[in-house]
Parts: sequence; C-alpha cells; structure tokens
Amino acid sequence: MQTVINRDISQAKYFLDAGELVAIPTETVYGLAANALSAEAVAKIYETKNRPQFNPLILHIASTQEIEKYVTIVPDKIKRLIDAFMPGPLTILLPKRAIVPDLITAGSSQVAIRVPQTPITQSLLSILNYPLAAPSANPSGYVSPTSAQHVRDGLNGKIPYILDGGVCEVGLESTIIGYNFDTEKVVLHRLGGLGIEEIENIVQERIEEKLLHSSPETPGQLKSHYATKTPLYLGNIQDLISGFSAKNIILINYQEAKPYPALQQFILSPTGDISIAAKNLFSILREADSYNAEYILSELAPDTGIGRAINDRLRKAQAINKS
Ligand code: TXA
Ligand code: MG
Repeated sequence: MQTVINRDISQAKYFLDAGELVAIPTETVYGLAANALSAEAVAKIYETKNRPQFNPLILHIASTQEIEKYVTIVPDKIKRLIDAFMPGPLTILLPKRAIVPDLITAGSSQVAIRVPQTPITQSLLSILNYPLAAPSANPSGYVSPTSAQHVRDGLNGKIPYILDGGVCEVGLESTIIGYNFDTEKVVLHRLGGLGIEEIENIVQERIEEKLLHSSPETPGQLKSHYATKTPLYLGNIQDLISGFSAKNIILINYQEAKPYPALQQFILSPTGDISIAAKNLFSILREADSYNAEYILSELAPDTGIGRAINDRLRKAQAINKS
C-alpha cells in the first residue's frame, strides 16, 4: 500500500467511509483516525499501531454541541472548561452513552472526547456522519508525530492516506481531565498542551491530580512511552557530560548551545518561550534519535505551565524507563 500525503478532505473521507485508517492533523499531534462507530475500522487502529487492547481511544468530534450525544452528564465545572478551551488541546473524560462502542473505551464506562481546532480537520469532521477514534499516529511506544512526514516515517505502507495540515501548533498531546463526582472537583489525568494554571483559573479552585495510575485506567501514564531508540538522559548538561566519556553524544539544550564537543546540539526554545519548546520537542527528539549516537543528553524545561508536560514527556522517554 502506498501512503499518500495530501490536503484533500474528500479523499480522506473516501478512505474513512471505506473503513480505512487516515492520519489527521490536530493542533496537538497527528492522530491515526478511523470511524469510531465501526468496530472493524477501530480494530485496525490497534493492529496498525501495535497498541495494547486495554488502552482506550479518544473520540474526536466536530463541535462541542455534539458532546452530549456521547456522554450522559456534563457537570457545571466541566461545561465552563468546554466553553473556555474547546475546540483546543483539552480532552474530557465523562460517563459514556451506549452509542460509544466498548472497543473505544476498552470496556470503561467513561469516554474521552476532544474537539480539535486545526481547520482542515474541522472541515473533515464536519462532512463525516460519524466521530473519529484517534490515538497519536505513531507506532505504540515511540515519540508522537507533529508533522505528516513524522507519520510516514513510522507508518509508511500501513495506511493509505495522511491528511497534511502542516506542523502541529501546540506539539504536545492534549491535557486530559475528568470529574470526581464524590468531591465535585475537576481531575487531571494527563499533563498536556493546556496548562493546569489555565484550567484552575477558570474553575477558580485547585484541581485534583490522578496521574500515576498503576492500573491501565489511563495507560498514557505508563512509563516507557514516547521513548527514543537512543538512550536519553536528563539533567544538568555539565553534570551529565562528566559521566559520559563518549564523543558521539547529542545535546538537547533548553535555550543555549553548550561549549562541549557533541555530534549535534539542539535548542528547544531559542527565545526561551515555553510554547516554542513544546512545539519543537517531538521533532527534536526524533531528529536527535536519527544520528545513531550513543546517548542523547537533555536539559529539562522550567517546570511551570506546559513546561510540566514537556518534562513529563522527557521523563517518559528516559533510558531508565526502557528496561
Ligand atoms: O492530543 C491528543 O490527545 C492526541 C490527538 C491525536 O488527539 N491523541 C492522543 O491519543 O494522544 P493517545 O491514544 O495517544 O492517548 C490518549 C490517552 C491514552 O493514554 C488513553 O489511555 C487515554 O487517553 N484515554 C482515552 N480514553 C480513555 C478512557 N475512556 N478512560 C481512561 N483513559 C482514556
Ligand atoms: Mg499516544
């Protein structure tokens, strides 16, 4: 199968209607999409990504007005967050209606829903008469794709079509929130492209964090996600360097190159703007990984705003998690 990259939404619709997979751009990362209401099409997502069946999928819909078609209840605080941040890099987890297939939620009674903002994907969703199930469009365990070429690098020949929407604006997966019906608080399930401070600003209270699942409730929390093939070590570059005698190392710096011999150096954000670092992160990890160096050494980002999500992804990509 030839994997075509193009910008034709009617072509994308054609493949999706036929039960095939199409990679779609969103402002966070590219998704590997299928008709969410077709069990056969959804099964292809798991197979193509080599994804464990217990890891549920996000439902992507055209507009926030459709949310109540798929969930039984939308608490007031969540409504405020929907109004503030959707479409956008936010995913909400709420009790599902029967119309949502169990294969999407991996048997859970809750479904994760997102309304992506990228115009070409908005247009595509608005001409389909079904929602799209879509995980990130990378082979399971590897770094998420933020360009059409990244998708092809990982899935060439396995899917017919990649809808090209250019480079993802945000560059990190969506922030996933849910609701604790006992405490009536918003719950954070995954750090992502929308900062926690922004969410707390809207609900005017601290949100609960339920990130470290030992159960597969949100397997995005499992370690060894997003991992490079080249072992990655994190910390202060100067401290790290002294522990590594090898010459063929790659450095990932936050803002400035360092005066050390390295095969290559990358800079996450030349201006220090944290959203630029987020946008560049996966692209730089992929490129750093392409040198077949012995090690990649990386600094962390400042730990505020989406810097927390950047650091979360870097930690999950660490060599230490791969064993
Ligand atoms: O930005 C994003 O969220 C991207 C784009 C394509 O929308 N998607 C994405 O999907 O990151 P994925 O499958 O790589 O990560 C989705 C996470 C997984 O960790 C999954 O376990 C969790 O969402 N999730 C989805 N449905 C869930 C459910 N019903 N209950 C608990 N966790 C769920
Ligand atoms: Mg993923």
